Amino acid sequence: MTMIEVGPPEPEDIFTDNHRWGDLDDWNATALRLHERDGIHHIERSGFEPFWAVIDHEAVLDIERQPELFTNEPEPVLTTLASRAARGVDIKTLIHMDAPQHPKYRNLTADWFRPASIKRMDERLTELSEEAVSKLETFGGVCDFATDIALPYPLQVILKILGLPEDDFPRMMTLTQQLFGGEDPDLQREPPSIEVIQQILMDFYAYFTELTADRRANPTDDLATLIANGQIDGETMPDLETMGYYVIIATAGHDTTSSAMAGGLHALIDHPDQLAKLQADPGLMNNAVEEMLRWTAPVRHFMRTARADTEICGQEIREGDSLYLSYKAANLDPKVFDDPLTFDIERQNASSQVSFGYGVHFCLGAQLARMELRSLFGHVVPRLGSIELADAPATMKTTFVGGHKRLPIRYKLT
Ligand code: HEM
Repeated sequence: MTMIEVGPPEPEDIFTDNHRWGDLDDWNATALRLHERDGIHHIERSGFEPFWAVIDHEAVLDIERQPELFTNEPEPVLTTLASRAARGVDIKTLIHMDAPQHPKYRNLTADWFRPASIKRMDERLTELSEEAVSKLETFGGVCDFATDIALPYPLQVILKILGLPEDDFPRMMTLTQQLFGGEDPDLQREPPSIEVIQQILMDFYAYFTELTADRRANPTDDLATLIANGQIDGETMPDLETMGYYVIIATAGHDTTSSAMAGGLHALIDHPDQLAKLQADPGLMNNAVEEMLRWTAPVRHFMRTARADTEICGQEIREGDSLYLSYKAANLDPKVFDDPLTFDIERQNASSQVSFGYGVHFCLGAQLARMELRSLFGHVVPRLGSIELADAPATMKTTFVGGHKRLPIRYKLT
């Protein structure tokens, strides 16, 4: 038998080793150590193309400000060499596009996501937040906030914005969790075989094709109608791009927001003084939500590719180099955020968090996500007489989108 020696984990592994995301305190502390060294780090790890991890807050913004120099194509997300080789047909979404294609596709739905327009969601969010409180009452003092409350809430919102019936909830859950879920080994109940994946994909293809046909014949004011009838350069959107649009709305809006909800509550449990402050002054809610977003950064990263030789944080970057924008580490940049490991709902510049990215790809659903968080916490927080962890929480071991997969709580409602 060969013995393999395992040394202490290397700090730079926090970008490539999904297990490192299972211990967020360690991840954060490691990111701070890396900040002390530099704002950019060259990462060479077996199984990955070498890349630059950018953790400096200003550098992340600078890169996002220059979409011609730093493109999303060809790889907007960190992938292993093995999964690149195994990949079949790619669904093309907004995140995979650059100009001139990207603005044309983004403009199809951009107005729908503007604050004045998504005010139409107010009533549904109130209903969902009231339902969340009723569930907490029904559970009688113990539940898993991550799976019981945070997971279903944003998916119900997605059903509403796409105009889909409540009965489609399980089907959409399959899409966001099984097909596009993270690589956490615990969440993949059984690794689906190629045949199973193809079957699920065919099912969705049929489902979205029917939805498209329906919304072309019977347009409404929902987002599915905009997507189904979307024209690019005067032509109907190609099938694969139409699918990609439904898929990005469903997936981008789900685990992200769930993770901010569960991670936000965990932060309040770990910092009872902050919870008390928020209960005493509900006017702090907007800033508290910004701090929760800074704290959780559910989208851990996106990638960019340099299109010319350039320089970042004094480091020479060559044309073709890959850059990993670490939103999580940028939110901990001590040059921008005082005491970055302190959760402070009154932090003056909490809204400088970069959890929604920046520039031309800035999260389309940012205002909606904020509304969801404000509504949920606006309903739950005033009712909390007491709250504590009932068991150990757990976070997803995934390098892309993640947060809590378990948050067992014990609570009393007033
Ligand atoms: C807390 C929740 C959320 C977080 C942290 C988040 C984060 C992000 C990030 C980091 C990006 C990439 C930005 C960049 O490259 O600069 C993004 C893009 C996007 N997000 Fe979100 N998101 C959230 C919720 C939502 C919701 C609720 C929706 C819609 C229902 C949504 C839809 C999108 C779309 C469509 C894009 C692609 C935009 C483009 O490439 O032009 N997101 N999001």
